[in-house]
Amino acid sequence: MKHILVTGGTGFIGSHTVLELLNQNYRVTAIDNLSNSKLEPLKRVEKISGKRAQFRKIDLLDIKALDDLFASTNFDSVIHFAGLKAVGESVEHPLRYYKNNISGTVNLCEVMSKAGVKNIVFSSSATVYGDPEISPIIEESPLQAVNPYGRTKLTIEYILQELYHADDAWNVSLLRYFNPVGAHESGEIGEDPNGIPNNLMPYITQVAIGKLQELSIFGGDYPTHDGTAIRDYIHVCDLADGHIKALENLDNNPGVAIYNLGTGKGSSVLDVVKAFEKANKLKIPYNITTRREGDAAICYANVTKANNNLNWKTNRNLENMCRDAWNWQQKNPDGYP
Ligand code: NAD
Ligand code: UFG
Repeated sequence: MKHILVTGGTGFIGSHTVLELLNQNYRVTAIDNLSNSKLEPLKRVEKISGKRAQFRKIDLLDIKALDDLFASTNFDSVIHFAGLKAVGESVEHPLRYYKNNISGTVNLCEVMSKAGVKNIVFSSSATVYGDPEISPIIEESPLQAVNPYGRTKLTIEYILQELYHADDAWNVSLLRYFNPVGAHESGEIGEDPNGIPNNLMPYITQVAIGKLQELSIFGGDYPTHDGTAIRDYIHVCDLADGHIKALENLDNNPGVAIYNLGTGKGSSVLDVVKAFEKANKLKIPYNITTRREGDAAICYANVTKANNNLNWKTNRNLENMCRDAWNWQQKNPDGYP
């Protein structure tokens, strides 16, 4: 049985991936500093799967703790989710982002290298394409960091590629996620943002449950079919599945591989609102306001490479994403206890 270390394993995407790993009979150790998550999701994962992931509270900046972990456990591969992810916060506190995300990853890689564990799947982001001129976006599209958060993702991509160039025993999968939303269909695990959500789907579910009054749609004058901005929303369980496929592929395709993970389909903000209303039979009050600074008009993926090379495809559509996000919100109106 392969033993996988999942960093950021109590987070939104991490917890869904831990569940999928356990379902597929991997042994899992999750680490997290709990700066943006709680332990509860792993308890829920155990409830759903009937299997337990080991957990250690470890900060990636604590290299001694990482060293001890790798000295005491034989891991086959690492899936590396841990990081800070709020774009606005990264603009206000760039050093916090560089230190946490970049230094944390350097520590992790150093310890992995020492332990001879050289298989890594990394959470990159569509943010590395900056403000894309053309969609669908292919993996070879121009790269650009437009904020400190994006720069940490791009820098880590380069670090991992350079690591491979220096030592071809490394196997690296860089997964560029588009817009992960939704929740496990059980409604036991889902996205639990702190405070007022920045992202569209959790904002909509909080309007639906009455915590927020109405949705502000940022911009109604984009060059799109209805004037609102277009993104590629992907169900978090499809995304989790992509990680298992990427992990399996590390063995068959050594080296560095880069994949877009999205559905390949663009949806406008109004499309999402309508899909949510239809899927859940309720109304979302909204108001179209000015554009949000730094937002791209249109951003969706070409996912041919992941479809072909990873033998992976998404199975859930926008209505499924809206249904599952709402199910999670209703079952957990205040998020995790
Ligand atoms: P999340 O915040 O729910 O999970 C990240 C986890 O990392 C959190 O549990 C946090 O406590 C932990 N963490 C942060 N710094 C740490 C450190 N120094 N040591 C140990 N643990 C630490 O976020 P998520 O949405 O699950 O995202 C997971 C990864 O995917 C992140 O790297 C994020 O940048 C990337 N990503 C997310 C999205 C998205 O929209 N959710 C899109 C693209 C990429
Ligand atoms: N939006 C609204 N109102 C809101 C929230 C969002 O209209 O209250 C709009 C945004 O303007 C955007 C779309 O909904 O057009 C999606 O916004 P999100 O904040 O949900 O997602 P983004 O595409 O802006 O950001 C996501 C990740 C970032 C990542 C970026 C690029 O959250 O971490 O994709 O990959 F950097």
